[in-house]
Amino acid sequence: MQFSGQSGERGSLFVVEAKKDLPFEIKRVYYVKNVPDGKSRGAHAHKTLEQVIIAVEGSVNVELDDGRNTSKFILNNPDTGLYLPPGYWRRLDNFSPGSILMALASACYDPQDYIRDYDKYLKWRSNLST
Ligand code: TYD
Repeated sequence: MQFSGQSGERGSLFVVEAKKDLPFEIKRVYYVKNVPDGKSRGAHAHKTLEQVIIAVEGSVNVELDDGRNTSKFILNNPDTGLYLPPGYWRRLDNFSPGSILMALASACYDPQDYIRDYDKYLKWRSNLST
């Protein structure tokens, strides 16, 4: 998804506006930085959480896996967000040095919403579609 922004001699400004730009109401914002070269994050799924992630600085590779197919994305522009629907296994890697990834989330932190084991995820996902 594309956000509006403006750049000029005073720098750049980007806007993500509730209701207009997002398919959910933001309940939580978090950001990730200082991810060392070769390290990955994510490697979990959420049962209900919706998120939009934005590389506000640098670039990050994202894999979204629905248990059958994997889609790959490169986030490298602060005017671009990737919508992470519920029920997808996500993996984030190849964080460029100095990168900052911001996440806008539809709910407050809830450890019960996570699936952190890939085999459990596949079982959960296959039960969803039957
Ligand atoms: P986690 O979501 O597992 O991130 P990653 O998969 O990238 O490692 O979060 C890492 C830790 O931070 C975990 O112990 C839970 C904690 N955490 C919170 O307490 N609140 C939050 O909003 C988030 C996103 C994580």
